Amino acid sequence: MCGIVGYTGKSEAIAVLLGGLERLEYRGYDSAGIAIIENGKVVVEKKVGKIRELVRKLWGMPLKGTTGIGHTRWATHGEPSEENAHPHTDEKGEFAVVHNGIIENYIELRKELESKGISLKSDTDTEVIAHLVALNYKGDLLEAVLKTVKKLKGAFAFAVITKHEPGRIVGVKEGSPLVIGIGEGENFLASDIPAILPYTRKVIPLSDGEVVDVTPEGINIYDFEGNPLTKDFMLVQWDIVSAEKGGFKHFMLKEIFEQPRSISDTISGFISQESEIFINLKDYRRIIIIACGTSYHAGLVGKIWIEKYAGVPVEVAYASEFRSGHYPIDENDLVIAISQSGETADTKFAIQGVKEKGASVLSIVNVLGSSIARESDFTLYTHAGPEIGVAATKTFTAQLVALYMLAVYGLEEKEELYERLINIRPKVESILEKAKEIEDIALKYVESKNFLYLGRYLSYPIALEGALKLKEISYIHAEGYPAGEMKHGPIALIDSKMPVVFVAPKDKVYDKILANVEEVLARKGIVISVGTEGDKVLKEKSRDFIGVPEIEEDLTPILTTIPLQLIAYYIANKLGLDVDQPRNLAKTVTVE
Ligand code: G6P
Repeated sequence: MCGIVGYTGKSEAIAVLLGGLERLEYRGYDSAGIAIIENGKVVVEKKVGKIRELVRKLWGMPLKGTTGIGHTRWATHGEPSEENAHPHTDEKGEFAVVHNGIIENYIELRKELESKGISLKSDTDTEVIAHLVALNYKGDLLEAVLKTVKKLKGAFAFAVITKHEPGRIVGVKEGSPLVIGIGEGENFLASDIPAILPYTRKVIPLSDGEVVDVTPEGINIYDFEGNPLTKDFMLVQWDIVSAEKGGFKHFMLKEIFEQPRSISDTISGFISQESEIFINLKDYRRIIIIACGTSYHAGLVGKIWIEKYAGVPVEVAYASEFRSGHYPIDENDLVIAISQSGETADTKFAIQGVKEKGASVLSIVNVLGSSIARESDFTLYTHAGPEIGVAATKTFTAQLVALYMLAVYGLEEKEELYERLINIRPKVESILEKAKEIEDIALKYVESKNFLYLGRYLSYPIALEGALKLKEISYIHAEGYPAGEMKHGPIALIDSKMPVVFVAPKDKVYDKILANVEEVLARKGIVISVGTEGDKVLKEKSRDFIGVPEIEEDLTPILTTIPLQLIAYYIANKLGLDVDQPRNLAKTVTVE
C-alpha cells in the first residue's frame, strides 16, 4: 500500500528520494514525506497530496544531506494529513521512521508510551515505532531496532534513521515487502524495485523476520535475534524504461498496448520454466484457486481450462473469504495462488494457512522475489514487466496465458495447443489497431450512470473483469453478471438508459447469449457487444459492436478482455479522472 525508499551514499539524498517516490506513487498517494540528515539534524518535510505537492514545497529549499528516507502513504490508521504523513519522529526529532503495513498492537503500545509521559502527535500506528526506537537507543541503531521489533505485532516493513549515526539506515521486514539495492559507495532500500532501478539492478529482496543495516560501504542482514545472515543478490532483468510511460498519456494505456509483448514474453517464460514444474495437476484430488480482484477473475477462467484439460475439480475463492471459511483441506489438495504483486495480504495469509494443513501451493506471480513467490512450493512467473497503473490490464492477460499453459502442459497435444497461443499475438495487435474505433464507441456512454456486463461460460469472468475495470477508474457503477442469470434479477434494471455490454464471441454458448441479447432489446436496453469479427447477426442487434478476430473458443477471453479495458480507459480519461491512481485504490494491498 504505502511506498518506502531510502538512500545512503555520496550524492544528495533528496534527488534519489523524490525520484524514488515518484516511481512508487502508484502504491499510495494521499500524502508523502521525506527525512534527511542535514548537518547532524533530522529534517522532516511532508505534504498532503501527490508527490508533486511535496516537490513544490521543497522548491527553493535545498536540503543537503546524503542519507534519507521517504514515504508515499495510503492511509490505514488516521486520515490523510500532514500529522499523519510519514516520516514520523520521536519527541526530540532525533529518529525518523517510514513504515508500510500495520502494527496491530499499536493501541497498547501508545498507552504504554503515554504512561511514560510521551505525547504522540499523530493518529498513526507508525509513530509508536519512532518513540520505541528512541527509548531503546543506547548508541547503536541496529540494537535499538532489534529490541523494538520484539514488541511489534502485525505485518510491516519500516526504515529508521537517526541524527546520532548519519550514514546509517536500519530496515525491517515482517510481512510487507522490502528490497535492498546494492550500489557502489551507496546503497538503497525500497518497498519496490522500480524506486531504485535507475541506480542499480543488484537487489536483495528481504524475507520476513529480517533486519538490514545499510551504510554507504555495505549492507548487513540479520534475523530478529541479531544473528548475521548471508543472502545473494538478484540481477533485475527489466529496465526503468519499461516502468516509464513511453509517450502514452497514462501508464494504463501504455500497459494495455504492451499486451502483444507481455503475452509473448509470458508464453516463452512458461516454456523456459516448464521443465522445472514438478507439480502434476492430475495428482491432486482438488485444486483451489485463491486470489483477489482481477487475479480472481483470471482464476475463474483458469478453472474452466483446468477442469477441461486436467480433469481435476477446481474451486475459486476470494482470498479474504477463503480465510474466514472452514475449508477442509489437506495434502491431496493443490492451491494455486494468483497475484500480480505477490504481496496481497489476504492471498499471502491464505496460502500460509493452507500450507500449515499440508496442501501444496503453486503461485502465479508477476513480481520477482515477492512474498507469495517465496512462500510457494512452486512459482510460475508471468512476464508482463512492471505494471504501474492501479487497474490491472497486461498482468491479467499474462495470468490467463500462464493458466492456459498450466492447464494443458501435461497433455500429449500440448505443443499444438501452445502453437495456437503463440499465434494469438497478431490478433491482439489487430484489436489494439482498432483503439480509435473503440474510443469513439466508449465516448458515447460517458454520461451513463450504470452499466451491466454480461457473459456466459468463458466470457462470464471477462464480463466481471470489464465491469471491475470500469468502476475502478471511472467511478461509474457497473455490474458483471452471468448472462443466464440476468432473468433472475438484473433484468429489472433494464430500461432505455441502461447500456448492457455483452461479451459474446462465437463459442458453444453463442446461441444462448443471443437469446439474452433479445431479452435486453425487448426491454429497450442499449446493447453494446464484443463479438467475433464478421458476426453480422450480433452486429445488427447491437447499438455498437466491437469485433475481435476469430479464434478457438478457449482463447477468446484473452481477446475479448482488451476492448473492455479500452472502453474503461477512454471513459475515465474523458471524465478527466486520474486513471493510473484512482481514488481509494492501491496497487499492492498489503492490509487485510
Ligand atoms: C488491488 C489492485 C487490483 C488487483 C488486486 C489483487 O485491488 O487494485 O488491480 O487485482 O489488488 O492484486 P494482486 O497483486 O494480488 O493480483
